[in-house]
Amino acid sequence: MRQCNDDLTAVVVMGVSGAGKSTVAQRLASRLGWSFTEGDALHPATNVTKMASGKPLTDTDRAPWLAAVARVIGTWRSRGERGVITCSALKRAYRDKIIGDHSDVRLVNLAGSRELVAQRLAARHEHFMPASLLDSQFAALEPPGADENPITVAVDRPVAEIVESIVAVLCAPARLPPAVQPKMRGVQ
Ligand SMILES: Nc1ncnc2c1ncn2[C@@H]1O[C@H](COP(=O)(O)OP(=O)(O)OP(=O)(O)O)[C@@H](O)[C@H]1O
Ligand SMILES: [Mg+2]
Repeated sequence: MRQCNDDLTAVVVMGVSGAGKSTVAQRLASRLGWSFTEGDALHPATNVTKMASGKPLTDTDRAPWLAAVARVIGTWRSRGERGVITCSALKRAYRDKIIGDHSDVRLVNLAGSRELVAQRLAARHEHFMPASLLDSQFAALEPPGADENPITVAVDRPVAEIVESIVAVLCAPARLPPAVQPKMRGVQ
């Protein structure tokens, strides 16, 4: 098996509801042999009730949830474990709270059109996120900037392909520094 990701603790899989976070993150975790945590399961019950009734969460509502996501990653780090966690993390401020300047956490951004995501949500029945919240999700979405070093993947293809394209980036061989040229004596 290829050894890779030696310096990584966690992968955070972000995106709007219905982008495929849970589906992709579970498959990615099992492909890597890492732990998996469903970030949505870390919402306080009051948030779940609010979302179920079709009301968007406020940033105050989100604070304990983001802290819980960050705690899971911190626990993996302190135990020397590795894991994949889902978190919609739509805004930069949320990602700053859960990732911040930790270089051992890599962001995967699942990107899809509103039309495709709406179709997938409509076909999914057993979940608390009503399709009516999708507009507020896209309105809130701040795609990650280049400085966040995201792995952005289009979701209009099969899950297995999405997972393999993420693994290909995570396991890419480290870039070597340019070869050091031996100095020739007497030449400046
Ligand atoms: N690449 C894909 N191709 C086809 N169907 C997909 C793909 N990815 C996810 N799905 C399906 O789309 C639906 C939404 O996926 P999923 O539940 O993983 O999204 P999510 O981002 O976790 O949403 P939420 O934030 O609401 O939990 C599911 O029914 C899932 O089976
Ligand atoms: Mg999910």
